[in-house]
Amino acid sequence: MKNTTIAVHGGTRKDDTFGAINEPIYMTSNYRIPTDGTPVDWSGTHSNIYQRNRNVNQMVLQDKLCAMTGAEDCAVFASGVAALSAVFTTFLNSGDHAIVSEVCYSATNLLFRKYLPEKYNIEVTLLDTTDTEAVRAAVRPNTKLIHVETPGNPTTGVSDLDAIAEIAHAAGALLSVDATFAGPVCLYPLRRGADLEIHSMTKYINGHGDSLGGCVLGATKLIDEIKELAMVNYGGILSPFNAWLIARGLVTAPLRMRQHSENALAVARWLEACPAVRFVWYPGLESHPQHDRAVRYMNGQYSGMISFDLNGDEAAHQRFLNALTLVTHAVSLGDVESLIVYYDKSSDKLPHYPEIYREGFFRFSIGLEDAEDIIADLEQAMKISGIL
Ligand SMILES: Cc1ncc(COP(=O)(O)O)c(C=O)c1O
Repeated sequence: MKNTTIAVHGGTRKDDTFGAINEPIYMTSNYRIPTDGTPVDWSGTHSNIYQRNRNVNQMVLQDKLCAMTGAEDCAVFASGVAALSAVFTTFLNSGDHAIVSEVCYSATNLLFRKYLPEKYNIEVTLLDTTDTEAVRAAVRPNTKLIHVETPGNPTTGVSDLDAIAEIAHAAGALLSVDATFAGPVCLYPLRRGADLEIHSMTKYINGHGDSLGGCVLGATKLIDEIKELAMVNYGGILSPFNAWLIARGLVTAPLRMRQHSENALAVARWLEACPAVRFVWYPGLESHPQHDRAVRYMNGQYSGMISFDLNGDEAAHQRFLNALTLVTHAVSLGDVESLIVYYDKSSDKLPHYPEIYREGFFRFSIGLEDAEDIIADLEQAMKISGIL
């Protein structure tokens, strides 16, 4: 079946007592435990005992995500960062080495730059994972995890997953991929050799900007380890209500991703042709430095994330932001609304990004408004701010 059909029908219903078409929300913190001798998984996540072990709405969401990605199993968490830290702390032990995309979400960057080395004695190499040879050269005898964010937040660099999977497996390491920027149907990391696929479900999977969540997908053996440590014993589980909201959002993810991608390509092409624009990177543009890879990996849909900058000084950039009426100045991404955030020159993140970004830039999450209206808003804001 096609991904639009799987998004509607994939996964199994857990309860059909009243014949409801939609799965109810199971707001229960604990469950009746069998007294008839049925074995109970007290320390793990294979029995209904307590909401931190497992919960019906988590299971429904996990099943649908597995059906859509082809993963054997899935664990869901209270946020994308909870899912990421679950992976890092499950598979990295004191003295291990990790290779990590330097262009990555800020919490991932800080975990690897500071907390994991300082608190847990993890060795870390942060590098540009779009440079496959740099990844190969960084492997050490104790390398246990290669963590790649692709497309990378915020610069949209695309890494060569096939090649990096080979490098990881030759080294006896796992490859985990944060594919949040691609969303759920534009990229399938598990089919490209990744052992673990991670998403902030807060973004495209939910898509409606009303709840946080994170997921990790992969083989049952790995997901069981993650669930036991991070769900049961760290405890950052996804609430039944948020699981229900996110499962509802996921149903329309293939349709939304198609529209996000179509809109973003139209906006990126317009920006590229606009004389006020200093640069624009979007994986779907032929001018993107890894466009060939994006074509190979991204199913002809390049998601909704663009980064660009305008000519003009800091004050002109601020005037442009103030003049936007449809596009909102806000963090986060993957929502129905277009969201833009400005990294000004004072941002301490700029040195980690390619040269062209270091004068400041915009990260732009293209929403589901009509592309012509988004472009019209950008154009009028550029004119009011005197940039165009
Ligand atoms: C690539 C990426 N991974 C992870 C996260 C963190 O997700 P959450 O905010 O759901 O914890 C984000 C958030 O922006 C992100 O962009």
